[in-house]
Amino acid sequence: MTLPTELVSQLSVAKSLVVLSGAGLSAESGLATFRDAADAHWAKWRPEDLATPEAFASHPDVVWRWYRERRQAALAAKPNPAHMALAELERRIDKVTIVTQNVDGLLQRAGVNDVVEFHGNLFIDRCSADGADLAPDDVDMTQIVPRCRRCGAAVRPGVVWFGEAIPANCIERAFSESSTADGMLVVGTSALVAPANSLASVARDAGAWVAEINVADTAISGSVEHVLRGRAGDILPQLVALLPQGI
Ligand code: OAD
Repeated sequence: MTLPTELVSQLSVAKSLVVLSGAGLSAESGLATFRDAADAHWAKWRPEDLATPEAFASHPDVVWRWYRERRQAALAAKPNPAHMALAELERRIDKVTIVTQNVDGLLQRAGVNDVVEFHGNLFIDRCSADGADLAPDDVDMTQIVPRCRRCGAAVRPGVVWFGEAIPANCIERAFSESSTADGMLVVGTSALVAPANSLASVARDAGAWVAEINVADTAISGSVEHVLRGRAGDILPQLVALLPQGI
């Protein structure tokens, strides 16, 4: 696709940029987006029936089966050209803050240094009793529902579930960077889930330009300056290639 020349100019002079990413960023790595049809095996479960504290309290074995599969899928997946382009963007622009709703760790594996993990990380093991993030030696993974070796409580994945609060440090960074950035790229998110979906309006209200990269219309398409329709893995590398080399 032909990229808007105004966006290329804006990005070329940007001193600070926020990227908000969602599940669509990893779609080309073969990981299903949240709102895709679930695979047949999990079709009877909605994410809302698996990714909640209530689900974990009532059927932790099912929740863990789902998360083990998600961990395996994420480990088997490879970063795609969109992840790589964001790592390159981080090298070319003075200040880039990548706020991600993705929990798969692919941005870090692509070489991105600084990721604000808004919805946590699939690979963190957390004690459900005291909320501590656990080292591998502190987790008995032989159980269907892993146990904390320090206290015997069930271990849970370190992701943010529906109804839970986003970590305070992530909220603080995401909102303060969005309110001072020159621009924002919103990549592969349906922009349906709060509070991440309000970052674009925070940036816009503070005078930043906002560009959306998505294969389909979203809740925010009508209110951003640039809409780039297509796959993140096609558009982001093209966009980055047009920027001046970093230092
Ligand atoms: P969704 O599954 O809601 O949206 C994925 C978006 O990616 C859609 O807008 C697709 O059109 C777009 N998309 C798909 N393939 C793409 C591609 N190759 N290039 C660009 N865009 C593509 O996922 P999220 O917006 O991330 O939260 O969902 C947000 C949150 O909803 C998730 O983090 C999760 C869920 O509730 C929690 O678990 C707390």
